[in-house]
Amino acid sequence: MRDDRDPPATGAPVVLQVDRLTTVFDLGGREAPAVRAVSFAIRAGESLALVGESGSGKSVTALSLLRLIHPPGRISGGSILWKGQDLVRLDERRLHQIRGREIALVLQDPGTALNPVFTIGDQIIDTLLAHGAAPRPGLRARMLELLDLARIQDPERRATDYPHQLSGGLRQRAMIALALAGNPALLIADEPTTGLDATTQSKIVDLLRDLVGRQNLSLLLISHDLAVVGACADRVAVMYAGQIIEEGPARAVLDTPRHPYTRGLLASVPSSAPGVPLPGIEGSPPRLGELAPACAFAPRCPERLETCETVMPEPWMVGTEGVTRCHLHDPARLVPPDATDAERAGPGP
Ligand SMILES: Nc1ncnc2c1ncn2[C@@H]1O[C@H](COP(=O)(O)OP(=O)(O)OP(=O)(O)O)[C@@H](O)[C@H]1O
Ligand code: SF4
Ligand SMILES: [Mg+2]
Repeated sequence: MRDDRDPPATGAPVVLQVDRLTTVFDLGGREAPAVRAVSFAIRAGESLALVGESGSGKSVTALSLLRLIHPPGRISGGSILWKGQDLVRLDERRLHQIRGREIALVLQDPGTALNPVFTIGDQIIDTLLAHGAAPRPGLRARMLELLDLARIQDPERRATDYPHQLSGGLRQRAMIALALAGNPALLIADEPTTGLDATTQSKIVDLLRDLVGRQNLSLLLISHDLAVVGACADRVAVMYAGQIIEEGPARAVLDTPRHPYTRGLLASVPSSAPGVPLPGIEGSPPRLGELAPACAFAPRCPERLETCETVMPEPWMVGTEGVTRCHLHDPARLVPPDATDAERAGPGP
């Protein structure tokens, strides 16, 4: 969680508004949803963490935002409003201008995203040129500035290194410097610390947090690790089987989680390896296209009700700023059957 020294992002304008985004994959004639009616918003200068087990749909969500889903996948519904335009329906030429320049993506594995045959400095300069993001005489100075911004020490020397000469942590920093080259307003970082040791992880998270504070950047931070999220985000969205099942201010979600899955996730020390069971939750997440008929978490849920197996839970409001998709928080269920009309109406404005 960001601490009290940080300026509150609440009240800042919404830059990204995702509404009922749905992405499906064709499994040989049958379409299976990997992202199911996902909705969230990110404000200017705000960081939102998207967390969940392997296969929950985090990366497909991130790629869908930039329309980087290719067959057999496709976005089948919903909207992605970015500065008033719907990226789902925007023409490819305009979308190409937005990628990297307005919304930048830092991928899970920097080893594949960096070009092994060019130095780090040359790759950043190429990216600056491609985005028209710095005047030619200022290219080198801006490249060094970006390396410095990503807290790479001795930028002059590091600029001449090839990716294989850098440690995992430095490669991830180089990726962040590359992502910042287009001067984006939103950075999407997909598992930026996976595979790094704990000290390097916390340094990268610290860097991201600092950038959000100093560069007026918004951040979508994807992680399976709630501890990483706890150090960085303003808000947390928890994904399960393609749906956001809980979303709210980081402190509220982490201190008083409402959804049984979030509670289980918090009781677990997540492993980065896909398919490794979480000690806090029995069973495994459903495979793509093999969802339970109503609440997808029902087969694993210790608090399952009869209705959970037949009725899809809605995203109910919890507190003033959060939502959770769980029948336990259905307001109709929380009101005792013998309540008076005044009690049903709630405390009022
Ligand atoms: N190209 C593809 N073709 C078919 N299915 C896919 C494809 N890409 C992703 N999927 C499926 O979509 C679902 C969501 O995958 P996604 O990569 O978004 O998970 P994730 O939450 O990012 O997991 P991880 O933590 O392992 O990165 C998974 O069931 C995955 O198998
Ligand atoms: S809706 Fe029911 S099964 Fe699903 S998480 Fe809530 S209590 Fe558990
Ligand atoms: Mg992923």
